[in-house]
Amino acid sequence: MEKDRNPDLDPTLREDNFEYSLRPQRLPEYIGQEKIKTRLEIAISAAKLRNEVLDHVLLFGPPGLGKTTLAHVLANEMQSPCKVIQAPALEKKGDLAAILTNLEDGEFLFIDEIHRLPAAIEEMLYAAMEDRKLDILIGQGPSAQTLKVDLRPFTLVGATTRAGLISKPLHDRFGMVHRLDYYTQGELAVIAERSARVLEITMAPEGAQAIARRSRGTPRICNRLLKRCRDYAQVKGQGVITTEIADACLTLHEVDELGLDSLDRAYLEALCNKFRGGPVGVRTLAAALGESDGGALEDLVEPYLMKIGFLDRTQQGRKATESTYNYLGIKTEQADLFGADAR
Ligand SMILES: Nc1ncnc2c1ncn2[C@@H]1O[C@H](COP(=O)(O)OP(=O)(O)O)[C@@H](O)[C@H]1O
Ligand SMILES: [Mg+2]
Repeated sequence: MEKDRNPDLDPTLREDNFEYSLRPQRLPEYIGQEKIKTRLEIAISAAKLRNEVLDHVLLFGPPGLGKTTLAHVLANEMQSPCKVIQAPALEKKGDLAAILTNLEDGEFLFIDEIHRLPAAIEEMLYAAMEDRKLDILIGQGPSAQTLKVDLRPFTLVGATTRAGLISKPLHDRFGMVHRLDYYTQGELAVIAERSARVLEITMAPEGAQAIARRSRGTPRICNRLLKRCRDYAQVKGQGVITTEIADACLTLHEVDELGLDSLDRAYLEALCNKFRGGPVGVRTLAAALGESDGGALEDLVEPYLMKIGFLDRTQQGRKATESTYNYLGIKTEQADLFGADAR
């Protein structure tokens, strides 16, 4: 099933150059997430007034909603450089110690996938975040000594797709915790238009709406769809992304009216047909779909299906909803197969 996921639409498959050029650099260019932006604006202004560094920030949310972008935006707003590390790349305590002791005054440290930090390294972060201190153990056995190192003021930005996997001590050391939500169609249309300007693509306003409608609430998907539509418009049209071009292109790529793609549909079909609507565990579903574990489904597929009311997560497992059956019924024109008994 992994192969079925269209690489152009899959938020886990990156194209860094493309994304980099489309990334907003400053807060006013960062579309949507208004409440979070307001809170951050105040925190930034206050920190500047007091001539302090910004408090540590934790960002939650499904892939592609703008966590990495926001981390860089914050550093830009504070006119500070930003170091980026992926949590799984930190293997030894010494790795983190080297990074922390080399941070410049006021520098940002962005740790992506922070829920995947090894426990020993996470514990080391506690004192670094709270007291700007690092305990470094030198030597071994009876002659071992602890060296206390003072760190320069810095801001840690942590990002994670899994709110539930952050330990409480780590969570509590962040001064601000923000949960990014899916974007509205209107916000995504603005993002599509902004990206079209950056990439010098001609697009009708309705074309932007058509892309936005099928972007699963996710800016990264919106930008990918825009790119596919640009190709389609150049090859099959006059180079302009109209509603017709966008619709035809996205249908070709099997993105439906709701923005659901082949993996989303396979998930819902397995849930309803193989497991009679559930409850069923995510691992069992993953196995049925040929996914190695439930991780990708939990990150990429389930949050949006829950958001649009197509999935319930219960103690017993995943369950289909009335809307799931309606959706599949319409899609497969076999509504009668999903009778009362299946529910
Ligand atoms: N609020 C936003 N406004 C405009 N574009 C955005 C916004 N959030 C994300 N994007 C776009 O979506 C892409 C993916 O965002 P990213 O920050 O990498 O997501 P995450 O780190 O949460 O997976 C970025 O390249 C950026 O162009
Ligand atoms: Mg990211």
